[in-house]
Amino acid sequence: MTRRILVTSALPYANGHLHIGHLVEYLQTDIWVRFQKMRGERCIYVCADDTHGTSIMIRARQEGRSEQELIDDMSRAHQQDFAEFGIEFDNFGSTNSESNRKLCGEVWSALRQAGLVEERSVTQLFDAKEGVFLADRFVVGTCPKCESKEQYGDHCEKCLSTYSPMDLKDPVSTLSGTKPEVRSAPHLFVKIESLHSFLDEWTSTGDHLQPEMANYLKGHFLSDELRDWDISRPAPYFGFEIPDAPGNYWYVWFDAPIGYVASTQDWCDAQGEKLDDWWRSEDTEIFHFIGKDILYFHALFWPSMLKTAGFSLPRRVQVHGFLTVDGEKMSKSRGTFIMARTYLDHLDPAYLRYYYASRLGPKVVDIDLDLEDFQNKINSDLVGKVVNIASRSAKFVQRGHLSETYPDDGGLFQAGAEAGNEIAKAYDDCDYAKAMRLVMGLADRANGYVDEKKPWTLKKDPEKAGEVRDMCSVALNLYRQIVVYLTPVLPELSNDSANLLGASFDAWQDAGTPLVGTAVNEFKHLMKRVDPKKVQAILENSKTAAEDVADHQAVGKPTEDDGGPLEAEPLAAECTIDDFTKVDLRVARVVSAEHVPKANKLLQLRVSLGGGVERTVFAGIKKAYEPEALVGRLVVVVANLRAREMKFGTSEGMVTAAGPGGAEVFLLSPDSGAKPGQRVH
Ligand code: 2FM
Ligand code: ZN
Repeated sequence: MTRRILVTSALPYANGHLHIGHLVEYLQTDIWVRFQKMRGERCIYVCADDTHGTSIMIRARQEGRSEQELIDDMSRAHQQDFAEFGIEFDNFGSTNSESNRKLCGEVWSALRQAGLVEERSVTQLFDAKEGVFLADRFVVGTCPKCESKEQYGDHCEKCLSTYSPMDLKDPVSTLSGTKPEVRSAPHLFVKIESLHSFLDEWTSTGDHLQPEMANYLKGHFLSDELRDWDISRPAPYFGFEIPDAPGNYWYVWFDAPIGYVASTQDWCDAQGEKLDDWWRSEDTEIFHFIGKDILYFHALFWPSMLKTAGFSLPRRVQVHGFLTVDGEKMSKSRGTFIMARTYLDHLDPAYLRYYYASRLGPKVVDIDLDLEDFQNKINSDLVGKVVNIASRSAKFVQRGHLSETYPDDGGLFQAGAEAGNEIAKAYDDCDYAKAMRLVMGLADRANGYVDEKKPWTLKKDPEKAGEVRDMCSVALNLYRQIVVYLTPVLPELSNDSANLLGASFDAWQDAGTPLVGTAVNEFKHLMKRVDPKKVQAILENSKTAAEDVADHQAVGKPTEDDGGPLEAEPLAAECTIDDFTKVDLRVARVVSAEHVPKANKLLQLRVSLGGGVERTVFAGIKKAYEPEALVGRLVVVVANLRAREMKFGTSEGMVTAAGPGGAEVFLLSPDSGAKPGQRVH
């Protein structure tokens, strides 16, 4: 039976342009949706801009224009970027729409009627010059515990203590530079503790979440009483005014997810469909794709709102990790904070679509865009393997026809057709890395066939024309099968190939039946190798583009290096170069990383020094790193440290890191290009 599936990606904030980190999610979702559509499922993909909140209000003020102008411009820019990356929504709306206002009202009435809303006074810092209450990130001051200057409103980066912004010494608003006042205002809270047992059940059953996410919620939130959710903000605030609490606005995180429903409503209105068939029907499966940072909004608040208002609950909340570039957080100074537009100005979006697909699995792990690997992989997989099959065969039959019956290919096409089920399962499970591996296996076999048959030699003999045509018919059919499997990832290559062979590539079952006797059109170049100069140009341009973005996002602390760390730990006594060389520091790759049962601080790492030499090391980095995020990255280890017996096992070295400890630990890693086993001098 045809499935009916509603799919969403998180709504991008309208206060900034898209970057390649955002694209992980939209590409992951777009590939999944395209796959479902190819399988003939009834599937729609809706999204919208997330337009409300203080940041938008402040940015509009700084730019001297209305919020509406700002969000309209940003919506156009977002949609242009999405379209050029081949991300196709069935509807792209806005949370600042009438449909959203109306639906917010419905959910709100349901919460009120269920007796879940309570009013309480909240005391906050207030910027009298700008006339706004200040969220913690808009205040800096001196830490009340350790006296470090320029700390944020709610926590000190130096001594790691947390506090209320009211306790911060010498507070300053980052918006106006003035000293804020303390003011109280009534806020509305939702008592989600009342839904605790429902949430226990929903998060732990029905495959609604990846197991690691369900465990995370259990360990971090559901094991305690759930705190009331502060859902309103006093004026001025850019958002929807709460109808029964004038002067108060729904907090942006209330109306943002309702934007999923509103965007569906807009689509329904345009298509003559009924909203209830999509949001109040057991026959529709709702899939949300999100990043790990917004899990608790989607797995705690959102199901609570949906349940109370009588909407369907998500069938699945699929969570992905963050993007690193060359093993590091995206960085403005290294030029790796790459805006979607900067990428589009230089490189083919198909490259990034394929690279992300080849890295995305079903687990919540960060994915790395290793720029060297990116170039190698595109050149070797897409140009060297896939497109190569067509370019080595199509030119011998172009402007002619494929053989009238499908020639004997030793079972290659049949085997490829059978592989379709496993590839489809991998897509459906969001294991695109596996799907890509399986497809590349087919491409290797098809290339083996062409290598063996060598149509270019037979071509010289006019009597062998029939044989050449048979070989090319096989090669082009294998090519088509492969490209059909890649269509969710590479829709443009699929289109161009469909033009070459005058055939459909849009349905999954197209991979099951070979083409016979059909015309082959003129062969046109299908994909180029990655030009390394363009990759360099992206990095160069991103240094400037990123500064522009930073200017727009204006708020934040000045980034002057303070003397705190050096004061906290003065320099050690002088040593000689000989002393230094006694310590053998080596580059190593993390092969595996695991939690150590009952240890609060330690992770157990297995690191490779190359050539099969591996070490087990215990590192006190548990509070700062998820083990999965470490696998594959390069670190620097003290390789000749005497082995130490510890409570949990023997540590055969030490991983180097900076920072005071706890969550503030930063592993050292070499620039890209370094190899395991290389010595650090
Ligand atoms: O984290 C974000 O970028 C939010 N704008 C996502 C909102 S998703 C949803 F709930 F609307
Ligand atoms: Zn402090």
